[in-house]
Amino acid sequence: MSVSETITGAKSTQSTDSSIHSASEVKSFIDRESVRRQSNKVLHGHPSPMYWKQLPESVETLLEKRLDFAKHQDFGVNLYVGTPFCLKTKPARCGFCLFPSEDYRGNAGVEDYIDILQKEFDFYKPYYGNDKLSSIYFGGGTPNLYHPEHYGRLMSFVDQLYGGIPDNIEITLEGIPQLFNEEKLTAIKNAGFNRISMGVQQLNEQLVKYSGRKQNNMQVFRALEISQKLDLASSIDLIYGWPEQTMEDMLNDLKVAVEAGVHHLTHYELNVAGRSDFASRQKRALLPSIQTNIEMYHRANDYLRSQGFEQVTVYDWKKIESSTQKERLGRYDYEHNMHHFVDHDEGAVNHTQQVCGIGFAAVNFHVNGVAADDESWIYMNHTSLEKYAKKVSEGRFPVERGFKYNHRDVKLAWLFQSMQTMKINHLDYRKIFNENLLERYGAVWEELDKRNWIRLSEAHVEFVGEGQYYMPMLQALIASKRLAEIRAAKKDDLASIAVSIE
Ligand SMILES: C[S@@+](CC[C@H](N)C(=O)[O-])C[C@H]1O[C@@H](n2cnc3c(N)ncnc32)[C@H](O)[C@@H]1O
Ligand code: SF4
Repeated sequence: MSVSETITGAKSTQSTDSSIHSASEVKSFIDRESVRRQSNKVLHGHPSPMYWKQLPESVETLLEKRLDFAKHQDFGVNLYVGTPFCLKTKPARCGFCLFPSEDYRGNAGVEDYIDILQKEFDFYKPYYGNDKLSSIYFGGGTPNLYHPEHYGRLMSFVDQLYGGIPDNIEITLEGIPQLFNEEKLTAIKNAGFNRISMGVQQLNEQLVKYSGRKQNNMQVFRALEISQKLDLASSIDLIYGWPEQTMEDMLNDLKVAVEAGVHHLTHYELNVAGRSDFASRQKRALLPSIQTNIEMYHRANDYLRSQGFEQVTVYDWKKIESSTQKERLGRYDYEHNMHHFVDHDEGAVNHTQQVCGIGFAAVNFHVNGVAADDESWIYMNHTSLEKYAKKVSEGRFPVERGFKYNHRDVKLAWLFQSMQTMKINHLDYRKIFNENLLERYGAVWEELDKRNWIRLSEAHVEFVGEGQYYMPMLQALIASKRLAEIRAAKKDDLASIAVSIE
């Protein structure tokens, strides 16, 4: 089926609706952006936290409304628990990391944080107590920096808030290789976790030095081996496009990981942004070119496929060899649930997935199906430990900023998540949102088709070739009209409707 045959009516609507992209706008956006290093490679959501601000209502009001929603809707909860601390590195923040974190300064600070965290869990008791958990994820920061005795206590906070933890849900803990020793992994397993996600980033021991991370490959192999022995599912994160990395280095990292028996791996392109050391002029000069990164993306995919791996998202790969292994190796539930956060049953929206975030920099995401504007929202806790702790000890929700979605934002957030899986089911989109996706973004699909970046089928827009590599840019393209509107509204002073939650 040709794209133009399928997109009936797209052209006739373009001239009248300024929220719809024209063909020339799409072409010039891609021509301009595809030659720039893209940022936002790791965090994919609409809109980016850059656009969030003080919420117009108090958190208590939002949570009261959510209680009402919870009485009538079927939904699953994905709990995220944040950890602020990381081992100090030189350069700071591993040289590349853009996630909020604070330097670890000893166990006393960690103990204080756990006490504060417990208080925040208590704030949510009146609101979240009857919810059903779909998955749990302890992220950060570096959550494997807690002492062995801390894990049971941390899990007891979850248990008490939700009145028990369902059997069989995925419970993940993120961390760095050198801290996943046998004693800790055993404590993690005994506390109820069933998956670890290990940030390895580099398996070239020379190149890893750029990040200041004190890790070696033996620690990675050992952690994988112990996890396997303890029946803990494991996945590792690797980064490509690293300073001075060659194609051979990149392929060698994958080979080492595959030979170590890894079954889940995340292969992120280095996101170079902000004030990180890797974004400095000196380090930029050492980075592979955009063209080399595109080639790395394709060569990595070919290699992983040849080793029996299946691509789950633009950067996630899994190798499942048998059904028993499938059970044992974990399912990426946390990620999967968010890729399909609104589902339907023959057109009627019947299930949503929410995120409850507790702790430093954690995010709460509540989507009320596709209902009226302003009933879906997202907010983030403080990214300064001092402010987080201060607010909680004063008995206040430690929220830094947030965003209320209108109906267009919910659709865009859903599209962003689908695009991560490199496939949009346009029939589902139509059933859920009552809108024809092929017409709505007609000029976009036509341009992508010309570049051989998509394939269209009865049910899907499927991203192929460079269409996959350029996903963050394509997400930015489809959101660009709405983001321009949000920016304009911000300029026109949204402060008039924003009542401070301070
Ligand atoms: C929140 S980090 C925490 C993981 C853990 N603390 C660690 O350092 O390994 C999660 C993952 O995001 C990825 N990441 C962070 N910053 C990145 C960047 N600038 N570019 C690409 N990936 C990045 C890394 O692969 C990392 O493992
Ligand atoms: S990469 Fe991991 S350890 Fe390094 S600063 Fe980021 S969160 Fe911390």
